[in-house]
Formats: sequence, C-alpha cells, structure tokens
Amino acid sequence: MTALSVSTSSAASLRADALVVGVAKGPKGIVLAPGAEAVNEAFEGKLTEILGTLGATGAEGEAVKVAAPAGLKAPLVLAVGLGEAAEDGYTLETLRRAAGVAARTLAGSKKAALALPVDSAPDVEAVALGGLLGSYSYGTYKANGGKEPVGELVVLSARKGSKDAKAAVERAAAIGEEMNRARDLVNAAPNDLNPKSFAAIAQAAGKEHGLKVEVLDEKALTKGGFGGLMGVGAGSANPPRLVKVAYTHPKAKASLAFVGKGITYDSGGISLKPAGHNETMKCDMAGAAAVFAAVVAAKRLGLVVNVTAWLALAENMPSGSATRPGDVLRMYGGKTVEVLNTDAEGRLVLADAIVKAGEESPDVIVDVATLTGAMVLALGNRTFGVMSNSDELRENLHTVAGKVGEQSWPMPLPAELRAGMTDSTIADMANMGERMGGGLVAGLFLQEFVAEGIDWAHLDIAGPAFHESAPFGYTPKGGTASAVRTLVRFAEQTAANGKA
Ligand code: BES
Ligand code: MN
Ligand code: ZN
Repeated sequence: MTALSVSTSSAASLRADALVVGVAKGPKGIVLAPGAEAVNEAFEGKLTEILGTLGATGAEGEAVKVAAPAGLKAPLVLAVGLGEAAEDGYTLETLRRAAGVAARTLAGSKKAALALPVDSAPDVEAVALGGLLGSYSYGTYKANGGKEPVGELVVLSARKGSKDAKAAVERAAAIGEEMNRARDLVNAAPNDLNPKSFAAIAQAAGKEHGLKVEVLDEKALTKGGFGGLMGVGAGSANPPRLVKVAYTHPKAKASLAFVGKGITYDSGGISLKPAGHNETMKCDMAGAAAVFAAVVAAKRLGLVVNVTAWLALAENMPSGSATRPGDVLRMYGGKTVEVLNTDAEGRLVLADAIVKAGEESPDVIVDVATLTGAMVLALGNRTFGVMSNSDELRENLHTVAGKVGEQSWPMPLPAELRAGMTDSTIADMANMGERMGGGLVAGLFLQEFVAEGIDWAHLDIAGPAFHESAPFGYTPKGGTASAVRTLVRFAEQTAANGKA
C-alpha cells in the first residue's frame, strides 16, 4: 500500500525518485503552478521553456517527464497538466485528478514528492487523496502481484508546522484506503467473492476496526421471512446473506442507515442477460462495497454520528431452483411481489434490507445500487442519479457529492409511473413497470418499502461504479468506489449539524 505523508521541506532539498509540479494553460502559453518555484529555480527559470519544447500544453491528464538538473535531490521532474490556469486557486477536484495522474504515471518508483499548488488543509487533503486513489492497482490474479504502485507519496506544503496539514493527510488516508478496499471488493472475481465470502470479509474488517457485525445466513433469512433476498438467491449454489455493520458514537445525535445492493454476480437469472451484458456483472455489488467502506471510514474518522451499513448480498443465477418470471415472493414485512423479470433483482434484495433498516427508525436511509441500465442511458458512465422522498435530502446529497468531486444529478419519482408496478393482477406489486423511465420506476419500487416518516434517498450508481475505458485522473479501470466519498461527507455533515 502506498504510504502518505506531508512535509514542509523545500522541493529542492527533498530526496525522492521524482518531483511532481503542476503546469497550466495560461493566456500566453503554458505557466507553472504555484509550488513549482524551487524546482524552476533549479532549472534556472527555464522549466516552462523546456516543458514547451517537450510538447507540454498544460491540458488536464497530461504528464511530461524531464530529467532533473544538479540542484535537485530527485533525478526526475514530472509536470502534470492542470487545465486552464486559475488565478484564484485550483479546484479540489483538479488537484485530486492531477495527483492521481502523477501517482499513476510514477507507478513502480519508491518515493515521489508532490509540489502542487496547495494553500489550505483541504488542498493538502485533495492532493493526498488523489495520489492514494491514483496509485491503486489490483494485482490479486497477476503474476507477482501485478504493477507495483508508487511506494510513498509526500505532499509538499509550505504551511509551516501546520497540524491541519497532517490531519488532512490522515483524513485522506482513511477515506482513500477504504475506497481502495471497496475497489478491491468490486474487482474480485465473482467465483471468489460470493455472499458468504463477502460476509466473512465484513466480519474480519469489523473485528479489525471495532465495528459490530451481524450476519443473517440463509437459514435465518428463511426463518425471518426475507423473501426478496431468498428469492433472488434461490437459483445459486451460493446462498444469500444480509450483513449489518454498525458504528455507534456515544455522543451521536443522529443515526444514518446506508443500504447497499450486493449482487455478487448478476447473470439476470432465468431472464438471462445476453452475452455482451454479463461480462462486468461482478460489479453489481458495488453499492454494498460502498456502504461498507463508508461505515468503516466513519469509524476511522471517529464521526459523532451513528452509521449502520446493510449489505444485501445474493447471487442471481438461473437453475432448476431459481425464481421464475411469474413467481410471487413474500418480502420482509409482508408485501407480495410478482417477479415479472428476474433481472430486476436488485430492487428485491434492497426492499428486504430497506424494511429491516427502517425497523431501527434511523433519521435517514440512503441506499446505493447499480440498479438500472436506464440510469446509465440517462446520465452516462460518470454520473449517478439521486432520487428521494424529500426534496431537501435529494438536493443536499447532490450538493455534497459535488463538494467531494463526485458527479451526480437529481432525478424525479413521477407519481404516474407507480401504477405500472402496483397493477400486478395477483400480488401487491410487480417488480417491473413501464420501460420508459426505468431508473425512476426502480426508485418508485424501493420507495414502497420505506417506513412512514423516514427520509430516504436512492443513489443509482450503475454508470459510475465500474470504469471500463482508459484510466483518467485518479480513476483506474474497474471498480471506482463510487458514492463512498458522498456518503462519508454526508455523515460528517450530519455529525457537524447534530441532525440529518
Ligand atoms: N445490475 C443491473 C443494472 C446494471 C446495468 C448495472 C448496467 C450496471 C450496468 C440490474 O440488475 C438490471 O439488470 N436491471 C435491469 C432492470 C430491468 C429488467 C427492469 C435493466 O436495467 O435492464
Ligand atoms: Mn439484473
Ligand atoms: Zn443487478
């Protein structure tokens, strides 16, 4: 794992394998970003000229390497692009992404120092987090563990003796390491990560961090009447689990429940997905990974709020024992659902978990799920949809997401789409409604299971949970840990306000 630290040393005097500076697009060509002064001096003020000769444009995502002159204690200088030059400081997301590009580019080296434009604790945190996330690589199945990440990242910050900077780096480590844990869970092959092994991982992490973990196995789920989870898992050799991970603070004034969709593999079941649609369906537990990472991070940060994560874990497979299109399930809490399409399974496991979570009367329930292809069609691959029974909560989560650099968009729950689901001829509801607005229909289905008086929001992360094209910024291929930062910041905000 990449080590993070902060130093007030000058870039010129720090011993490292590489020094990272920022370069931006100025009105008259490229300009160096603040933080690069000492490095530029070692180049006798010619660093921009040299970078220009090497073709640097300052564009976001760009990384240009230059051999260092004698005056520096590092052999290599790496200039990363920041986009348009910013007079009044670079955004936190620009810093995260630039640090991510640097960490990715420097994979394999032992120690890199980041001399990027930081002048506040949040800036330091952004650089540290971007660096940690950008250094991520998943080598479990590769010979020799795959690509070696950069060993150590030192964030250079001029803020003299600042305690804030140190705390900022510690926060980045807690959040970044838990995000990388979520990415590991998503990237694990589905023949290794199943409901039982996921539950065991949650139990081990609970022990490590002092969290209370309770696991309901298939026997307990059957006895308890969790028809959604059992119905979805009915076709699989790997039976379902419902895992509760609880973090409590003695001074907490509010309680949050985070519910995650944890389909460790979604084949579609009897309504089988065609080839081309199932290769990445190990990612269908990204919601459960996100809520799990968020509760562990809340504990590591010592937030003054209670956070309970509910992981609704099942494998959706076709077999002789699988739920058929046409079957009726009795959900936890007693509602009956006619399963018209076994590929609309996420809402079934979530419904059980949402009812269960609601029994504890939390102030807010937020569920996170790779729920619908329709949401990907609507918002693309990098933006999650936010739905809620409260306008305020929906707007708040969208705003919080923006603050931590996650792209989201508020989506409605139009009342007229509800009828298509509640019109099941033989059950209380069907698990499908109109095709148009499918992402919203799924949200409306979940809403039916939220107890009266509880504020609830639904994050459909089907687009951003799994990144399939070339890496960018701090986002690698594969699991991204989508929604983790939003959940953690929402919990922090709740703690700070003393109410949700
Ligand atoms: N897990 C899928 C949704 C999904 C699609 C996630 C693409 C990530 C990327 C979900 O279980 C599903 O299959 N949804 C169906 C619902 C439909 C049958 C009502 C869908 O979106 O097609
Ligand atoms: Mn499905
Ligand atoms: Zn699914």
